[in-house]
Amino acid sequence: MKYSIVLLIALLPSLALAQPNIVDGKLLYEESCIKCHSDPYLSIGLNEMSNPIELSYMVNVCSEHFQLNWNQQDIEDTTHYLNTEFFRFDK
Ligand code: HEC
Repeated sequence: MKYSIVLLIALLPSLALAQPNIVDGKLLYEESCIKCHSDPYLSIGLNEMSNPIELSYMVNVCSEHFQLNWNQQDIEDTTHYLNTEFFRFDK
């Protein structure tokens, strides 16, 4: 009994934080972003992205700006996709 409670507590964080999904990120990008940012991703901003925080922030900004109604997961998925395929920032 004691053991299963310990196990449950150990597993909780991994259930709460879903891993970013690169396949979803690619789909979301193709659906909503590719028309402006191309494939491979083309930076059109004045300030270059230099870390994953900044990238995720700008993904958020663009999705808000175009009123896509993305949730946190959508933003993480797309950030993960762009980072893996294009930016390659260390986590
Ligand atoms: C209608 C055209 C358009 C669409 C659609 C669009 N963007 Fe952008 N995006 C821009 C422009 C213009 C900038 C430059 C803004 C600036 O630097 O102030 C930009 C900037 C960015 C940047 C940071 C700067 C750069 O150029 O690298 C990121 C990251 C980004 N967009 C991601 C996305 C994502 C993700 C989506 C899909 C949700 C998206 N954008 C949809 C036009 C667009």
